Amino acid sequence: MKQILSVLIGALIVSGCIDSSPTETKTDRTGERVDSLMALMTVAEKVGQLNLYAGGWEFTGPVPEDTGNQKKYDMIKSGGVGAMLNVLTADGTREAQKLAVENSRLGIPLLIGYDVIHGYQTMLPIPLGQAASWDAEVARSGAQVAAREASASGVNWTFAPMIDIVRDARWGRMMESPGEDPYLASYFSKAWVDGFQGDDLSNPTSIAACAKHFAAYGFAEAGRDYNTVDISMQTLYNVVLPPFKTASEAGVASFMNSFNEIGGVPANGSSLLQRTLLKGDWDYQGFVVSDWGSIGEMITHGYAADTLEAGYKAIVAGSDMDMEARVYENSLETLISTGQLNLEILDDAVRRVLTIKFDLGLFDDPYKYCDAEREKKELGSSENLAIAREAGRKSIVLLKNDQNLLPLKKKGQKIAVIGSLASSKDVPLGSWRAQAVTDGAVSLLEGIQNAVDNKSAVKFSQGYTLTSGNREFVRELTFVEGDYSNFDQAIALAKRSDVVVLALGEDCFQSGEGRSQTDIGLKGDQLALMYKLLEVNKNIVVTLMNGRSLAISELDENIPAILEVWHLGSEAGNAIADVLFGDYNPSGKLPVSFPRNVGQCPIYYNHKNGGRPTTNPNDAGMVFWSHYTDAPNSPLYPFGYGLSYTTFEYSDLAISSTEMNDTGELSASIRVKNTGSVAGQETVQMYIRDYVGSVTRPVKELKGFEKITLNPGEERVVKFTISNETLSYYRADLSYGSEPGKFAVMIGGNSQKTLMTDFRLVN
Ligand code: NOJ
Repeated sequence: MKQILSVLIGALIVSGCIDSSPTETKTDRTGERVDSLMALMTVAEKVGQLNLYAGGWEFTGPVPEDTGNQKKYDMIKSGGVGAMLNVLTADGTREAQKLAVENSRLGIPLLIGYDVIHGYQTMLPIPLGQAASWDAEVARSGAQVAAREASASGVNWTFAPMIDIVRDARWGRMMESPGEDPYLASYFSKAWVDGFQGDDLSNPTSIAACAKHFAAYGFAEAGRDYNTVDISMQTLYNVVLPPFKTASEAGVASFMNSFNEIGGVPANGSSLLQRTLLKGDWDYQGFVVSDWGSIGEMITHGYAADTLEAGYKAIVAGSDMDMEARVYENSLETLISTGQLNLEILDDAVRRVLTIKFDLGLFDDPYKYCDAEREKKELGSSENLAIAREAGRKSIVLLKNDQNLLPLKKKGQKIAVIGSLASSKDVPLGSWRAQAVTDGAVSLLEGIQNAVDNKSAVKFSQGYTLTSGNREFVRELTFVEGDYSNFDQAIALAKRSDVVVLALGEDCFQSGEGRSQTDIGLKGDQLALMYKLLEVNKNIVVTLMNGRSLAISELDENIPAILEVWHLGSEAGNAIADVLFGDYNPSGKLPVSFPRNVGQCPIYYNHKNGGRPTTNPNDAGMVFWSHYTDAPNSPLYPFGYGLSYTTFEYSDLAISSTEMNDTGELSASIRVKNTGSVAGQETVQMYIRDYVGSVTRPVKELKGFEKITLNPGEERVVKFTISNETLSYYRADLSYGSEPGKFAVMIGGNSQKTLMTDFRLVN
């Protein structure tokens, strides 16, 4: 009987079973198919669709007690599981899918989710690095690579993009984020969603995306992961939410809420965020998944007394799917049968999940993503690696280049490559590395060797050891300190070389989830080695591998050339070499401010003025203004900063009018000239300041940018349009709009160095 019903339902769902009129849209048709399926479902089966289970063989969170695979299999077979995460390979996902499709009464296929954050097997630069490209194509093509590979391995849903704004480098998850600015983050939000999902979710090489973490997870107090968040509604609306709104508008299939509370309410229980805003104001039609165990954590937060209350509060607030808390499994049926929960609320959540399954085409072919043949061809393909290399070189930021030490010559130079990070084939893969092959990256050393004319001119010495022991799943990392055993060899090598490429930075597992730090300087013996090397050779280029902005004042003071290369992915070494030797002229700009020291955190360019700012030169020497007694307020390197092997001159800032009204527009233009001797790319950035608002406004906000390429001597006028939208923000009462008054427009090559003029917005 069970089998017959399943076959019948399968046929009904595949055919749609309903006559469709010519005017019927795909969305209408999917809606009808969902309705017809839901009409057949029991409450238990509906609840099942809201359960997200992890595969037994890998985990990315605390393991629930009943991890026994048999229990999971039985649950799937009974229709008690709607989605799985961390189930891997084409064959493995096929097996999981089979359990659901061929055994459960209704044969509803599973969503198979995975953290495909910056690649599946081919690793792209970490998202923070990608954001340094200020280039949507980097994000889009990278997400396409990730989707092509993951989808071939049976994954149909990624838990990305992560679009949390972050201002505090102590937080380990800065590496996953597009940085500190809502405008730039929104730009990348759309590019990543488009890349993962393509034009049509049913395309077998596209996967459903997930905008996370909703919301304000990046504002964890003191940068400690999972910590409390307490920010104003203005910061929430104007800073945190814009990239999420963009993701919603871009049609992202799902949202993930966050571990944190905000204003005393855990995100899972926030009706304001999920019902009023996301599903209400933004009319979002996809579904919201919880983060790992986070519905249950509402009890620990002190927001729900028990499982029943947690389940009730989460689903009523709009959390549709439960990732590994097993709260929905243990509460929703009871809540329905006792009349405490309205069936419509459950139905709404189930409808949202099923709609995405239909959109993915899973009902038409549940195994479409489990393609062992394609998996063999796709994973780590040369085409994908080429995209990773291109993304890598575009993500690199040149922080310093005194006396044009860079680019290096490919021949006629003895090059010392020093530092254990330089030979690492693992660190460049970064944190959140999905199915990357351990030690599978091109190391910096290999990249340099590949690039030079004569390999024997390149010599390596390890110098320092950064970490020891297991790094990936340990609570605290062990840094090696006071081990100078390899120093002498490194110093001798530096002495007999023309130039030193010194790799410094972080182990990739210093960043990522649960990887907060109170010290964001260079750990271990790195600085000690740097000083020793400087004694014998001043021609040092530092390549900085890291997942967060670092406090590197000592580097800035002592080292002539510094390249920020992040954790750059599978092709790291080749991409870095492209820049080191000038095959690619660096064009990246920082998506986050680099502090002078950790005490400045949180530090961000779009801060408020305050009543006692430090900007008035007459204040110099006075005590009672907002400052530190031991360091300047300014960052070491500001947001938007990055050099090139050429130079750009900005002049002739002009605006089309000094007045505009709220239905009008004006344009601001600037002349940019390449004053150096090689072609280069420059990201021209426009910032706006609203001098007086009904609530105070930031000292500047990025409102536009354009990346241009100029040959030596070439100049171009770059134009930006300023409209009412450019000047609008969420005000005290959370209404959105502009306010008349004086505005500044600032245009330049980074957030600090701009030309400026004023205009007025009049009624
Ligand atoms: C917890 C993380 O916060 C989230 O980003 C991730 O997607 C899930 N674990 C699943 O691994």
